[in-house]
Parts: sequence; structure tokens; C-alpha cells
Amino acid sequence: MAIRAERVSGDDSMQLDDERHETARQAVVIAERIDRQSRAPAPKAHESLVALHQPAGAAAEAFRGLYYALRRSVGGSPLGVLAVASAARGEGRSTVAANLALVAARETGRPVALVDADLRAPALHRLFGVDGEVGLSDVLANRADLEAVVYEHPNAHVALIGGGRPEAEPARRFTSPRFARFLAQVRGEFAETVIDLPPLACVDARLIAAQCSGVVLVVRSGQTEAQLARDSLEELEGARVLGAVLNGAAGLEAPQLRAARRALPPGR
Ligand SMILES: Nc1ncnc2c1ncn2[C@@H]1O[C@H](COP(=O)(O)OP(=O)(O)OP(=O)(O)O)[C@@H](O)[C@H]1O
Ligand SMILES: [Mg+2]
Repeated sequence: MAIRAERVSGDDSMQLDDERHETARQAVVIAERIDRQSRAPAPKAHESLVALHQPAGAAAEAFRGLYYALRRSVGGSPLGVLAVASAARGEGRSTVAANLALVAARETGRPVALVDADLRAPALHRLFGVDGEVGLSDVLANRADLEAVVYEHPNAHVALIGGGRPEAEPARRFTSPRFARFLAQVRGEFAETVIDLPPLACVDARLIAAQCSGVVLVVRSGQTEAQLARDSLEELEGARVLGAVLNGAAGLEAPQLRAARRALPPGR
């Protein structure tokens, strides 16, 4: 993201001086952050980021398959803003979101934004081994600009926007004009953005999903009840569900996989 240093020059008007001072201050903060990032070695990422650690392995290949299946479901074009949803906690939303963003960036050679919208319990920064001091919650509460909270991964072409300071009741943030502005900004800068949602039991997940270009539903094999998965599709009424991921299906036999496919047809 470019820094408009030329906006920081003298002027007679006091108000403009104040504005320019603020612009200069923010430019310095951003420049320092980018400088720190570019000098820092790549942080130690969690082993579940298989697309980063073993890009040629079977698990990364499964995420590549998922990415291209999603692309096919939208006629081959870039995914725009894709939300990753699931019914309950611990079903693998963050793992799927992060690996999907990593393979998308690798396959297209373009930067992909990865956004942690689970503001009650932000987690993506930990997967990438970076501090979670500031992020989306700070942008939405007007405490920071988007440029100041983006973490550009040194090896992966992924621009991580962490959750930031946790919030207990974040729903109203996602109906605010600031969130609409945030979405417009990421749409303008990235052909593909992946958003990690809270569980669908939280109203914010539904509010965000309805504003995205598409949604993928994660169902955890042996954990998510079939009825709960069907209820989730109902809760996503109004959003564009592109398909579902059966996460952790490696141990399943072929007949069980066929049954799962019938229960959750990709696309609607
Ligand atoms: N396919 C898988 N195989 C093995 N472990 C997995 C798999 N998918 C996810 N996990 C593990 O399960 C745990 C929960 O995954 P993750 O954090 O991605 O889920 P989540 O839905 O985002 O959870 P939360 O609701 O807490 O945000 C993590 O420890 C993760 O490493
Ligand atoms: Mg999560």
C-alpha cells in the first residue's frame, strides 16, 4: 500500500495543517510498521497451515481442489469476498480460511486478503505467529486505519487483517457504514479476500455472510450433527452459498463420503 508522502507539505490554513499533521503521523506509523515487517524474519506459523509448510503435500492439494471447485462454481472468475462459515466452534473455519487464502495467493500469484471477523475470539494472528494487538475491530471502532493493521506475510502473498482487540458484542459493527467502507476497500485492492466468520449461532456471522460475494460452509466429519449442518444452510438464507467442505474426512469410507455428498450438495 503506497504512502502519499507528497500530501505532507506546508500550508497557511490551520485546519489543513492539522489534517496534514495527522496524515504525516499516520504515514510515519505505517512506514515504521512496514519497515519492521520487511526486516523481520518470517514468524513461525502453526503447523496447521499446511499450504505454507507443505505446499506439495496431500492436504495442500485438497485445499487447491477446494479453491478450484469454488472458482468453477462462480464461472471461473476470482472469488471476490468469500466467507468461511460453520455451525459451531472448533469445526475448522480458521484452518480452512487460512489455507484457502494461501493456496489462492500461490495459484494466482496475486496478493489475497485474509480477514479475521471472529471478533469475540480472534485466532488467525496466532496461526501466523504474529501479534494480535490491532486489527479489524480497531478499524471498525475507528481506532485505526486499514493500512495500519495489515500484516503482509513475507513469503506468502497473503495480507492478514487480524481480529484486533476482542469484543464481546460485535454484531452492530457489521451493520455500520465503516464495515461497508472496509469491504469496499478490500474489494478495491484485492481480487480475492477470505473472511473467517464466527460460528453461525452468532448473528454477526449471518450479517457478514449476507454482504459477501459467496460463502462456503465447513462441516466437521464426526463432529457436526447433520441436522445442525442443514439448519446452517437455512441460517445462510440470503447469502450465496457456493458449497460445503467436509473437514477431516480422511478416515471415512467411500459409502460414507457418498452419503455426506448427498446430504450437503455443493452449491444451491
Ligand atoms: N482436518 C483437520 N484435521 C485435524 N485437525 C484439524 C482439522 N481441521 C481443524 N483441525 C484442528 O481443530 C482445531 C479447531 O480448528 P479451527 O481453529 O480451524 O476451527 P474453528 O472453527 O475456527 O474454531 P473456533 O470456533 O474456535 O474459531 C484446531 O486445533 C485445528 O488445528
Ligand atoms: Mg476460528
